[in-house]
Amino acid sequence: MNLKGKNFVTLLDFTPEEINYLIDLSAKLKKEKQEGIMHKHLEGKNVVLLFQKDSTRTRCAFEVGALDLGMGVTYLGPAGSQMGKKESIKDTARVLGRMYDGIEFRGYLHTDVEQLAEHAGVPVWNGLTDMYHPTQILADFLTVKEEFGKLKGIKFTYVGDARNNMGNSLMIGSAKLGLHFTAVAPKELWPEQELIDHCQEIAKDTGATINLTEDKLEGTKDADVVYTDVWVSMGEPKSVWQFRIKQLSDYQVDAAMMQNANKNAIFMHCLPAFHGIDTEVGLQIANEFQDEYPRVKNGEMEVTDEVIESNQSRVFQEAENRMHTIKAVMLATLSDDYE
Ligand code: CP
Ligand code: NVA
Repeated sequence: MNLKGKNFVTLLDFTPEEINYLIDLSAKLKKEKQEGIMHKHLEGKNVVLLFQKDSTRTRCAFEVGALDLGMGVTYLGPAGSQMGKKESIKDTARVLGRMYDGIEFRGYLHTDVEQLAEHAGVPVWNGLTDMYHPTQILADFLTVKEEFGKLKGIKFTYVGDARNNMGNSLMIGSAKLGLHFTAVAPKELWPEQELIDHCQEIAKDTGATINLTEDKLEGTKDADVVYTDVWVSMGEPKSVWQFRIKQLSDYQVDAAMMQNANKNAIFMHCLPAFHGIDTEVGLQIANEFQDEYPRVKNGEMEVTDEVIESNQSRVFQEAENRMHTIKAVMLATLSDDYE
């Protein structure tokens, strides 16, 4: 397997064998880290992390991953660089590509990360755009594999805004690796038909199935994994909250939904999650909308506190796996001789 020099922009660019290789490499790096075996395979190299949006997991995963591999790291946040204000993405790519061995980008437009990848001359890794979040899927699938020992044939149900970066990317990942993917959402929040058709084509070769339904009981029936994400993603205006709560409050992942799933089902969420009033936004939404939508009282939105705190929840293992999987992506795309 040779991924050296390859960009990691969307899973659509990778074969099932390559994705499985990255997941297995992540598991190996995780085990080495747990056993205290150092793996500074990329000493002397440097990476830059470009963030137009906030992040906890992705930024820290890239920083710790890079440091564990022996690399130097520069973080450029939403403020403080010239990118996009006084300097185009194309020029930024050509400057940074001469100083760094790899570039991570988190932002709004997917075309921005594509442009960086086209012009940087070094690997570019997508740390989330409005359309896709591919490094998250590697962590999610590593977690599923740790739990069930396999990915093929797993019944994976995503509940919520199915046309956001997570809905799109989980559907692609499932199609590539042979999972039975179901999106449960009101029709207007299903992924674009073109992407569904494309994933259904991929699924023909991998044994995956792709289903979409508005019926939460049908969609979560016997699921091995119930997955959800925030109802309003970064970059969407605050004004969409009210309508999105109206669309999705019936789709909140609660104990009844988990009971409808397989008895060994796990709950997953890419995080951050709204499940209480201990966040600014959670408190504000609860105050504003709880009279009209009782489910959001206590700041519980896409998932109840009971479910995320239950022993079915794997959200923190999943968050840790961001670091092992991102490390694997950097190692595989930057190393000459790593196998
Ligand atoms: N899941 C995820 O990408 O989290 P951050 O926004 O904290 O990076
Ligand atoms: N859909 C979410 C994912 C966060 C990791 C967002 O884009 O805000």
